[in-house]
Amino acid sequence: KDMDFIDDLIGRMTLSEKIGQLNLVTPGGETLTGAVVNTDVAEKIRTGRIGGIFGIKSAEAVRVFQDLAQETRLKIPLMFAEDVIHGQKTVFPLPLALAASWDMDLVRATARVAAQEASSIGIDQVYSPMIDVCRDPRWGRIAESPGEDPYLASRFAEAMVEGYQGSDLSRSDAVMACLKHFCGYGGGMGGRDYDAVDISPVTLHDVVLPPFIAGMRAGAGSVMASFNTLNGVPMHANRAVITELFREKLGYGGLVVADYTGILELIAHGIASDRADAARLGLTAGVDMDMVSETYLETIEDSVRAGLLKETEITAACRRVLEAKLKLGLFDDPYHRLDWGRAAQPILTAANRQLAREAVAAATVVLKNDGDLLPLPAPESGKIGTIALIGPFVEDRINMNGTWAVAALPSTVVPIADGLREAVGNAASVLTAKGANIVDEPWLATRLNVHDWKELSVVIDVRSPEAMIAEAVATVSAADVAVVVVGEAREYSGESSSRTDLSIPEPQKKLLRALKATGKPLVVVVMTGRPLVLAEEALLADALLVAWFGGTEIGHGLADVLFGKTEPSGRLPATFPYCLGQVPITYAHRPTGRPTPGRFQKFTSGYVDLPDNVPQNDGLYPFGFGLGYGKVAYGPPRADRTSLVGDDRLEVAVTVTNLGDRPTLETVQLYVGDPVASVSRPVKELKAFRKVALAAHAVEQITFVVTAADLDFSVAETVTDTRRRSESGAFDIHIGPNSRDTQAVRVVWDEPQIEARRS
Ligand code: IFM
Repeated sequence: KDMDFIDDLIGRMTLSEKIGQLNLVTPGGETLTGAVVNTDVAEKIRTGRIGGIFGIKSAEAVRVFQDLAQETRLKIPLMFAEDVIHGQKTVFPLPLALAASWDMDLVRATARVAAQEASSIGIDQVYSPMIDVCRDPRWGRIAESPGEDPYLASRFAEAMVEGYQGSDLSRSDAVMACLKHFCGYGGGMGGRDYDAVDISPVTLHDVVLPPFIAGMRAGAGSVMASFNTLNGVPMHANRAVITELFREKLGYGGLVVADYTGILELIAHGIASDRADAARLGLTAGVDMDMVSETYLETIEDSVRAGLLKETEITAACRRVLEAKLKLGLFDDPYHRLDWGRAAQPILTAANRQLAREAVAAATVVLKNDGDLLPLPAPESGKIGTIALIGPFVEDRINMNGTWAVAALPSTVVPIADGLREAVGNAASVLTAKGANIVDEPWLATRLNVHDWKELSVVIDVRSPEAMIAEAVATVSAADVAVVVVGEAREYSGESSSRTDLSIPEPQKKLLRALKATGKPLVVVVMTGRPLVLAEEALLADALLVAWFGGTEIGHGLADVLFGKTEPSGRLPATFPYCLGQVPITYAHRPTGRPTPGRFQKFTSGYVDLPDNVPQNDGLYPFGFGLGYGKVAYGPPRADRTSLVGDDRLEVAVTVTNLGDRPTLETVQLYVGDPVASVSRPVKELKAFRKVALAAHAVEQITFVVTAADLDFSVAETVTDTRRRSESGAFDIHIGPNSRDTQAVRVVWDEPQIEARRS
């Protein structure tokens, strides 16, 4: 079937059949991702009033609904979507953690596995990747995002789209990606979810949009509108950004879906007077499918009759829905993803689990490793006798998948204790103690279980905190080393899970303080969906690791890391602040006219209450930071020339040396700084990175190519009237192991075509 088929089909459709295609519903029952669900779904399908369904997770349900669609006059197949965010049944580390791997082959491979697993039960479209750049870790959805940097997020977007869609979207094991949330959702006021976003056109173009453009260029078939307002206009009604900018100027040709009741919420936003008004605004803005609110279904026909909407607008939206179904091969065979023979095969295979296991190591970020405490001696070496494994997460299966693992069963998770015991076998002993509840307050615990209230993600131990700590202290005292796993509950991050405090909850901090007093070496492993304030933990721990929420294979993956079977090679995808008051925070801040020189001085920018030893603009751990088990030294960057003209290519090389006795993985990062321009530019911006394997004592030269495009920036009057601009002058090319510890070489670029170029 081809575009002629679509033309012919549209020619035969009634207005109400076209409107039916725009109705995207969830019947509830299997997965709940919003406060309301649709009713009479079967009847609406039978009468051609539904175009797509999401939130069902069984092949049987897909079959039943598709059968109903095949009974309609035109037999237009339904499109099935699901929130497959970091794996379907095999759950990979959180998206923020996958971004921390800085390994786009790995990211692509995880999306491929997710596509295979999801498509095998009939899912056509996944609401992923989420590529909202976020610089405020109070926002719970930072867990689903690739972090604070537009370049890293852009590479992540491409890799995810390529993994989901493969080379041919009509294949039965390919699913349509959905770039979300379009756009600006990561910048909500105060880090609150769904809150208003106020950003300049320049920030929109240089920070928010690049990942969406990268995802679009990688071929993403769909985009989801975001809940927030952008400079006063809710995105579900934002014609300037969705249609005039993204479609007409930037060339996006795919489907745009609403977020959950996002069209109806235009009333609450204060820009629509009633449901009909909301539907008109949404459709006119360019939102093709109305998710859950059914305002399109109920009001559009009347609006057309009343002359308030043109049928051509409905036809255009309907065409985009039908084109998506065509690309997915649904008109050739509505059931082709629903292959009973295949349904069980790709799920949770040994190979999928192995990838998830490797992903844990790739995502784990080592923040501190005093005295090379890690890796622990291999169990079979006989050098380790007793390991104390402490903390509320060590036997846990519920929290390990983190947020948005809607189809996964906790029973398939390998808990941390199981992974460690398996690794140790009979060669050493593992003693466990819970030590603390994740949180103690019952009211807070209740709030943390909104999704899965039957499976308590925070089980409150009824023993007194003192008794639990005493047991843990006794356990650690009897051991050679303690591995203490602390952090957030999974419901602390994700949708509608913003926090006012970025600390590890107090009961667990008390536990750490008590364990420090034992004098035993402490390895502290942090479970989290966001950057946390870890200033105290950094003092208490001898080794400090961020393991995020690692998914199905967390137990095996973490054991691999602890015993050095696999190198932990994650690098932070977002700054870990020194304290809460520093957020929002990014390494890519603009210079101020009054920078704080080292320590605070009056009449300079900065914080009067930060200690002198804390950098005012940086967090405790900067973007890009992470240690390996090797010792890598960087030489100064060398440019193959110092002055360039126009489209010249610059080669910048750096020598990295592994001074250590074991192989390691290093992520070499290149940043550009533009010290003098017509606008004040961020102090550094990531423009390239390379993750390299270095053998023991290896000396390697890494070469990057920098082009004029890496030096461009946006100048913008309005959201839609924006130009990319290249300016002549000096640029600093920084290279280093993270955004802070770089060395730079200065080059001068002469851009004869200073005339601005349209982006
Ligand atoms: O895909 C999600 C979105 O990210 C948040 N609201 C609900 C949608 C569908 O479940």
